[in-house]
Amino acid sequence: MLPQLPDGFSALVTGASGGIGSALVDALLASPRPGRVLAVSRQAIRRPDARLTALPLDITTPRGRDGLVEAIGDAPLHLLINTLGMLHDAEAGIAPEKTLGDLDAESLTRLFQVNAATPALLLKALEGALKGRHPALIASLSARVGSIGDNRLGGWYAYRASKAAHNMLMKTAAVELRRLNPQATVVCLHPGTTDTALSAPFQSRVPAGKLFSTPFVAERLLGVLGRRTPEDSGDFRDWNDEPICW
Ligand SMILES: NC(=O)c1ccc[n+]([C@@H]2O[C@H](COP(=O)([O-])OP(=O)(O)OC[C@H]3O[C@@H](n4cnc5c(N)ncnc54)[C@H](OP(=O)(O)O)[C@@H]3O)[C@@H](O)[C@H]2O)c1
Repeated sequence: MLPQLPDGFSALVTGASGGIGSALVDALLASPRPGRVLAVSRQAIRRPDARLTALPLDITTPRGRDGLVEAIGDAPLHLLINTLGMLHDAEAGIAPEKTLGDLDAESLTRLFQVNAATPALLLKALEGALKGRHPALIASLSARVGSIGDNRLGGWYAYRASKAAHNMLMKTAAVELRRLNPQATVVCLHPGTTDTALSAPFQSRVPAGKLFSTPFVAERLLGVLGRRTPEDSGDFRDWNDEPICW
């Protein structure tokens, strides 16, 4: 697993109670290679493994990000996987828009905050732990529907646009991080349609055999990350290691 990273590497997974996030934590803990796995989620997760530190924080807030900085400090971080992402929230009345008439300023703002601003502010908070000369793999989960070039179907305005903004923020951070750590690699990853709470309301439209399980996706994403080098920094790739157009 992740041959670019040293034995005993330190890892941080955000959205660790989510479908893909929790499968990534499990996949990391199933390997003897990580020395420390930090799992950030609004409600702490539990696993019987002394290498796990579960941090109950909401990193969409300044207070949550401050708590993360306090927990990590400037200790070198080798692996950061951000899985935070939001498509719908029935309680808040947020659902993917089908038409322009469905657009709502508050929903747009919320999705931009969770899907675009937070991943970038997370990198800002962790700058001290990412800069230096140690190998640092940074992956933030995006979505193919965030590709502007690939947008043929329309709809899902806020999710698409917030993921496109996410991609630009990560690409820009990749350029800067190259200067702060020549061994840093930043990538946006599309996990494929995966059986989680995020996709649950839309799964009936997914063709048979095309809905991935979370352990499968975790394994594939770690495989894609394991093949990345700093020359790939700024890439947008899918679970099958295929590049996606911006
Ligand atoms: N599932 C798919 O088919 C699919 C397809 C393409 C892309 N993706 C992307 O893959 C990533 C992981 O998604 P998933 O399928 O694993 O979804 P999920 O099970 O819903 O997990 C998403 C996580 O994001 C965090 N989150 C969501 N809304 C939030 C909010 N309002 N405030 C704070 N945190 C919030 C939560 O973190 P906590 O752990 O703190 O609760 C949640 O666990 C997302 O970026 C998603 O856009 C998924």
